[in-house]
Amino acid sequence: MSSNKEISNIPKHVAIIMDGNGRWAQKQGNERVFGHKHGVKSVKNIVEKASELKIEYLTLYAFSTENWNRPKYEVDALMALLVSSINSELDLLNDNNVSLQAIGDIQSLPKDVIDELNSAIKITSKNTGLKLILALSYSARWEILEAVKNIALNVKNSEINIDDIDEELFSSYLTTKQIPDPDLVIRTSGEQRISNFLLWQISYSELYFTEKLWPDFGKDDFLNAIFAFQKRKRRFGKTNDQIENK
Ligand code: FPP
Repeated sequence: MSSNKEISNIPKHVAIIMDGNGRWAQKQGNERVFGHKHGVKSVKNIVEKASELKIEYLTLYAFSTENWNRPKYEVDALMALLVSSINSELDLLNDNNVSLQAIGDIQSLPKDVIDELNSAIKITSKNTGLKLILALSYSARWEILEAVKNIALNVKNSEINIDDIDEELFSSYLTTKQIPDPDLVIRTSGEQRISNFLLWQISYSELYFTEKLWPDFGKDDFLNAIFAFQKRKRRFGKTNDQIENK
């Protein structure tokens, strides 16, 4: 068992690609949806652990734009699971001083999901601890295209000049505008890819891949990812000497 007694250099923002629910269920001869249900238990554990570690932002890739192409019964089950888990975990969020936010094409979600989400966002808005951000109907290419369209519109309306367009301005057109870039991205299930997640924001993030399937990913696994992050040398394009003598 790992201990978090002496933990320091905690990442400010951890983003997670929660993968492997379907395989976890199918390995035991169950329907994929069974895996998603068990995935909620991992979400609870990681929210608790992230709060305990005083991580400031936790972003979870819960439903991608591409996930709409899954069989209708699976999409419906995921939407129903979102409504029921957001509702049943409100106490967990409040008890841990967690505020909820969402990024993505939220208007494309079913009305009951939007209502439940908005209600939980409002109820938890005064909490001052961990900010839990659910990426829902999200894809980075969608987000970047939306930003480009809005910037183009504002240039056309003469609200901004082309010369004003820099990294800071571009970031302010993204759904993550108030959120610092992730320090650490975790992906479970052994796949080593980014799958259209936060492409702009993860330019300098540390990546951590684990074989564990999401329903098996527990508090100790999360802690191990944090320990691995702490061993990394982040240079942001600079040399070791520059970093060490800063
Ligand atoms: C990826 O596994 C997981 C998802 C597409 C859904 C994640 C949703 C949850 C964990 C439940 C709801 C979450 C919240 C925040 C309440 P996969 O289905 O792609 O697995 P596979 O790669 O094994 O097929």
